[in-house]
Amino acid sequence: MAMAIENPGTRPARKGTNWEKWGWIYMRVSGVLLLVLVFGHLFSNLMIGDGVHAIDFGFVGGKLSQPFWKIWDTLLLWLALIHGANGMRTIVNDYVERPGLAKTFKVLLFLSAALLILLGTFVIYTLDPCPAGADPALVASFCNA
Ligand code: HEM
Repeated sequence: MAMAIENPGTRPARKGTNWEKWGWIYMRVSGVLLLVLVFGHLFSNLMIGDGVHAIDFGFVGGKLSQPFWKIWDTLLLWLALIHGANGMRTIVNDYVERPGLAKTFKVLLFLSAALLILLGTFVIYTLDPCPAGADPALVASFCNA
């Protein structure tokens, strides 16, 4: 039996911000930005100079003493963790049928992403590249100047 749908092009008016729509837009925009950030990150850590063999405390201290890499890493950290956690939230919404379990997973996802964002940001902005008393062979070259 055929069923008529009244005004099929219209939806009931909803009040407030459409968070699912903004979440959808965030995933597309951050996905494009992350392609640039991740490949820039891999290129600078693996391809330039001695590549992966150059990575030690001095290398990380040298990078994180430059505002450019601080901003790059901050964007990479925040965008990737929010992108990953929100993507997992969508998977939980799609596949976890028990409401209590779904809620628990989403709270855990939020807490783990928030903790990693806080800890990572703390490291990026507080790392001391030239700790007092460190072996000069292990720190960035500018520490010994
Ligand atoms: C073989 C692959 C990788 C290597 C060798 C590597 C190496 C490193 C190194 C040495 C650092 C500290 C210095 C710096 O900022 O560059 C770092 C930091 C970081 N990496 Fe990677 N990485 C790799 C892949 C990735 C991927 C795929 C992602 C994200 C999708 C990522 C995200 C980050 C973030 C967010 C930081 C900053 C962490 C912080 O201090 O808060 N890395 N990585």
